[in-house]
Amino acid sequence: MAILKVARMGHPVLNRTADAVEDPTAPEIQRLIADMVDTMADAPGIGLAAPQVHVPKRLVIFHIPETRAHQEEDENGDEAEEAVPMTVLINPEIEALGEERVAGIEGCLSLPGMVGMVPRFRHIRYKALAPDGSVIEREASGYHARVVQHECDHLDGILYPQRMEDLSTLGYTDEMDRDELPLGARMREKELPTEAADDG
Ligand code: NI
Repeated sequence: MAILKVARMGHPVLNRTADAVEDPTAPEIQRLIADMVDTMADAPGIGLAAPQVHVPKRLVIFHIPETRAHQEEDENGDEAEEAVPMTVLINPEIEALGEERVAGIEGCLSLPGMVGMVPRFRHIRYKALAPDGSVIEREASGYHARVVQHECDHLDGILYPQRMEDLSTLGYTDEMDRDELPLGARMREKELPTEAADDG
């Protein structure tokens, strides 16, 4: 296992459509997954897509930690977000359930140090293959849905700024922290529903 170099915005591998994985159980795919898990833990990040480690294949990993799930509940007073264990999605497909979208703060390991407000579908259904070749089919909402949409966008050469509707909310976290108001409060002043940020 190894920690891989993460491609940053501008690298061509982040702009192309990734290729389908032909055999999810192949040894090189298992090795790639193990290396991506190490790389994401080292970053640290919530999610990682294969193109971010210079492999243009349709494979992403993500997890929603317990701490994140509880934090979401406290900040928003919404229904509790559930923690999601480390999940590998191979050749994933996403379907929006309804038109409702919610703006939330996102970061990305390919844009280190930056965050921005990104609208995403609130409810989705996704389907993918697991590393053992079995089928994963889930419905997701809120932060879970956001992370999956962010990661799967990487497979189509899309980075989160391309999904933003208000580029004035894109910035460096260490500059935003200078402000008297924390980032979340500043974002809320723009009267958009917010979700929490993390690198994916
Ligand atoms: Ni990302």
